Amino acid sequence: MHTVTSQSDQDLKDRFLAIRGCRHHFPLLRQRVNGKPLVYFDNAATSQKPQVVIDTLMRYYEEENSNIHRGVHYLSERATQAYEAARVKVQHFLNAAHHREIIFVRGTTEGINLVSSTYGPMKVGPGDEILISTMEHHSNIVPWQILCEKTGGVLRVIPINDAGEIILGEYEKLLTPRTKIVALTHVSNALGTINPVRKMIDLAHAQGIPVLIDGAQAVPHMKVDVRELDADFYTFSAHKMFGPTGVGILYGKTKLLDAMPPYQGGGDMIKSVTFEKTIYNDLPYKFEAGTPSIAGGIGLGAAIDYMNELDMAGVAAFEQELLSYATRLVGEIPGLRIIGTAREKAGVLSFVIEGIHPHDIGTILDDEGIAIRTGHHCAQPVMQRFGVPATARASFAFYNTKEEIDVFIGALRKVIEVLG
Ligand code: ALA
Repeated sequence: MHTVTSQSDQDLKDRFLAIRGCRHHFPLLRQRVNGKPLVYFDNAATSQKPQVVIDTLMRYYEEENSNIHRGVHYLSERATQAYEAARVKVQHFLNAAHHREIIFVRGTTEGINLVSSTYGPMKVGPGDEILISTMEHHSNIVPWQILCEKTGGVLRVIPINDAGEIILGEYEKLLTPRTKIVALTHVSNALGTINPVRKMIDLAHAQGIPVLIDGAQAVPHMKVDVRELDADFYTFSAHKMFGPTGVGILYGKTKLLDAMPPYQGGGDMIKSVTFEKTIYNDLPYKFEAGTPSIAGGIGLGAAIDYMNELDMAGVAAFEQELLSYATRLVGEIPGLRIIGTAREKAGVLSFVIEGIHPHDIGTILDDEGIAIRTGHHCAQPVMQRFGVPATARASFAFYNTKEEIDVFIGALRKVIEVLG
């Protein structure tokens, strides 16, 4: 038994060593900020990009740049092939059944707006309910409020406990014949809570209610399988998972996407147009009006290739180790309160320090070369739930280190010396 344990300990150590070795793939992390080595702890806002993604974007503009789905010439065909190959990479990355279920959008926000403004009005009438949770990002609140204003629908909110976990018993009570859609974050950007989405989807499906999952904070940290989850819609942004900004994905089940009207009108989303009538294109193009972020889509494909080479289970375990190390050390800082203490958490550490405004914490940390986010994190209802106007938030990626956490803790002690 002892040998097995030490072998697996050794195995984990080797895996962590391999993960630590990936840091050098991220050139930006080598720079100094304010004369100090950069400590980048703002990964929930956006991740850094590995060299292969940067090279892919450069190569696209140097060798492939052309519009897609339109030209018969060599470059257009080459760009089209690269873009469509990226779609297939996303399909396999999510284990979706078909590439037509993969819609390129600008990011998670657009993915949710697409569903709320197309699927929403088909399903939601006066008095019908949309169910979200207290910990949603504004991008999973406001689009549903806009839908409610247009349709007379009602927004219902699942409460969370003091640790920042969804209260499942309350969720079950809120699922009623009036509920037309449930929209939930997989991982909270402000608290780090990992929600039991598989179970929550099952509970909604037991009553025939479809579920949209905001996966923006989940995909960089864990393997996501949309068929295993049985999510009806799943959306995320490339830039939080080591890809470029301006591009993201909406996954939807074919049956649902087929029934939905288009989101925007324009080029590429049509089969034929006359002034009398337009015939819309098939999936996925029906939802992709206009020239998209072609470089972005191809760059997302490169980020997926990169992630496919990573040991994602090892990454998740390594990030947990960073989180528990940081949690233990900040716990020793007098006057510091962690906001979000769920049992299942991703690498997000949100906190307040008594008597010191989070912006002042962020400014002093910046002087030390440490990048964190301060504010309400586009989740004002979460701040209200915890009775704080804002928090300071450190968010980790697999390329961060315990040594960086030590620097961060030293800087927090300095904050207290200066301002406490
Ligand atoms: N939603 C991003 C964050 O949490 C921008 O910082």
